[in-house]
Amino acid sequence: MKTSFPKDFLWGAASAAHQVEGGNDKNQWWAFEQITGTIKNGDRSGSACDHYRRYAEDFRLLKKLGHNAHRISLEWSRFFPDKPTTLSRDAVTHYHRVIDALIKLKLEPFVTTFHFTLPMWFAERGGFERRENLKYYKDFVSLIAREYKGKIRFWNTINEPTVYTLQSYFTSEFPPARVSLPKAIGVLRNLIHAHASCYHILKDEDPSCKAGLVHHCMYMEPRNRYNPLDRIAAAFADWMLNRSFIDAIRTGTIRPPVGLEHDESIKDTSDFIGLNYYTRKYVRITDIAGTYTKTGKERVTQMGWTEYPEGLYHFINMLRHKLDVPIYITENGIATDDETWRADFIRRHIAETARARNDGADVRGYFYWSNLDNFEWAHGFGPHFGIIGVDRETGKRVVKKSARAYADIIKRNRCGYR
Ligand code: BGC
Repeated sequence: MKTSFPKDFLWGAASAAHQVEGGNDKNQWWAFEQITGTIKNGDRSGSACDHYRRYAEDFRLLKKLGHNAHRISLEWSRFFPDKPTTLSRDAVTHYHRVIDALIKLKLEPFVTTFHFTLPMWFAERGGFERRENLKYYKDFVSLIAREYKGKIRFWNTINEPTVYTLQSYFTSEFPPARVSLPKAIGVLRNLIHAHASCYHILKDEDPSCKAGLVHHCMYMEPRNRYNPLDRIAAAFADWMLNRSFIDAIRTGTIRPPVGLEHDESIKDTSDFIGLNYYTRKYVRITDIAGTYTKTGKERVTQMGWTEYPEGLYHFINMLRHKLDVPIYITENGIATDDETWRADFIRRHIAETARARNDGADVRGYFYWSNLDNFEWAHGFGPHFGIIGVDRETGKRVVKKSARAYADIIKRNRCGYR
């Protein structure tokens, strides 16, 4: 099997503002973290990886490891900390510096406009539960589109809208930790519109930029494959998590149970698709959200997840056939302290990417999640996804063995696994 990649293939790592920057005390996550019992071990994002101040050093490290791209997100609550009308020029300047630093090092910026965190004032107004609130998000996107025009070639509209919805309105892992199916469905529908609006704003401002959704896919397996009800449940979970959003932004039609509506402005609103892939789940009719991550003695990560690289191949093909646009693996990673496992995990997933490319899939980049051990939302700082460790006392960066293994793949531009 051919395991080499084209010269212009993008190799990088992915991050999100709240998980690494530190000091993001104006968003709904910060408020959530202050409530006892919400985050494992009572952790709080606090100063996180202090990336807000150490970004230049972090980027230089990635450059040394051979990366040629990097994924970040812009923290909306830094731009408009207290209300929708008062812009912080400091935030504008800060992100100019961050983006300039990436460009200077020839790390292609992949920039997400919304990665799970909302300004507190927006959350208090009902966040994405209310369609009329979309105007605030659009104002934010208009601002950043204008401001960073010409510097950013790849915009990521929204990070994992289905995961955001599921965790915020169904599993209670994310704020507002409400369990409400009608709310979840309403939010998902609003996020489809938010994504499409974001796409159009970015493209109107800079027609030469590429804008695309970042979509999470999880391989859904029936818990008992001989039970027809489990099979139906798995197919339903697959539709809801993996396909419904994609279907809407491809066709312009939102289908039940998310809604019943056709809107031409939603149609074909992804110049490329970002695929985030981690693991598979086993779904049971009595547990459609799928809390089972294994059936037997499979080895699990610090997140309780198993490794299933073939799923990446499966979803590259699914997206290829559904959307027919270039694909970037915008997240793929493992939480472990076993460096051999992480290096193998990376190799195996890149091998699956190569396999899909050999079959004709137009995959143009791979971003490992994540460059740094960071704040893993409700799991706190326990899970270690990074190829670079962070000493929690001193903030010192420690390059791990897997970072070197990944650097070697990049250098040779091939994974050489099989
Ligand atoms: C999210 C990241 C998260 C990662 C690992 C993705 O769903 O985009 O923010 O840290 O998964 O759980």
